[in-house]
Amino acid sequence: MTDRPDFYVHGYSDHELKRLRDQSQTLGDLLHHDTRYPPGRLVLEAGCGIGAQTALLLKYSPDIQLISLDLSMKSLKRAQTETGGLNSTASFLQANLFELPFADETFEDIFVCFVLEHLPNPQDALQRLKAVLKPGGTLTVIEGDHGSCFFTPNHEGARHVWNCLIEAQARLGGDSLIGRRLYPLLHEANFKKINVSPRFVYADSSRPAWVDGFTLKTICAMVEGVRERALEMGLTDEHRWEKGMEELRRTSESPHGVFCYTFFKGTAVK
Ligand SMILES: C[S@@+](CC[C@H](N)C(=O)[O-])C[C@H]1O[C@@H](n2cnc3c(N)ncnc32)[C@H](O)[C@@H]1O
Repeated sequence: MTDRPDFYVHGYSDHELKRLRDQSQTLGDLLHHDTRYPPGRLVLEAGCGIGAQTALLLKYSPDIQLISLDLSMKSLKRAQTETGGLNSTASFLQANLFELPFADETFEDIFVCFVLEHLPNPQDALQRLKAVLKPGGTLTVIEGDHGSCFFTPNHEGARHVWNCLIEAQARLGGDSLIGRRLYPLLHEANFKKINVSPRFVYADSSRPAWVDGFTLKTICAMVEGVRERALEMGLTDEHRWEKGMEELRRTSESPHGVFCYTFFKGTAVK
């Protein structure tokens, strides 16, 4: 697989793999503090990437039997290193979540983070995952929603590069506004006990760890990562892009910069 496959807006460059780790270190408690699996549960993580969330799953639920899969072998190799020594029963597998190599009703819990937003058919993905979940088993899905973001200074250029990210992802078949759709998607997939909770991020210069970890290393790094695609797709030109990125980075500057964003976490039972 190339570093920049056509279906996946972020690709597998070293820049992006580092961003995934930075992102999880900043968002770990906000997104994962309430995910706890009892010892011995057989858990599937679909689309584990470099294992950034895998490490957090194992931190909060150290005694589970975890199988983490992804399409990308490069990411899986990083994932093995990332989680080395955390749990000897965790294993990594190269697989497509649409062609899962497991019998129906295998897993007690399934965990998916920042994956549905990249799929042209997230409902189909939920159905595939549901098939390998035992009756009474749980599904946890975490997604962002790029329409939930607002910031100051609210320059036109900053909005332009942000919109390039949304549009580039949409043209590749994804939906970066999927967070708001989690409840309807889970409902349509006939899950029970659905609960979706918004997880709000607020970063101003009195919270330097959030400005550095979220505004700069998660958001600005994510937008910067689609530069080449946005240029190739004709969504922008070099001058407009550089100016826009400079304006986006101003949302991290003291004392006037503020960045806000909402993630959505859904849990449900089969
Ligand atoms: C944004 S990354 C998220 C990785 C990880 N869950 C995290 O939050 O750090 C999305 C991942 O989903 C994987 N992916 C996309 N489509 C997939 C599919 N059909 N089957 C398995 N993995 C897939 C990609 O290879 C990529 O590693």
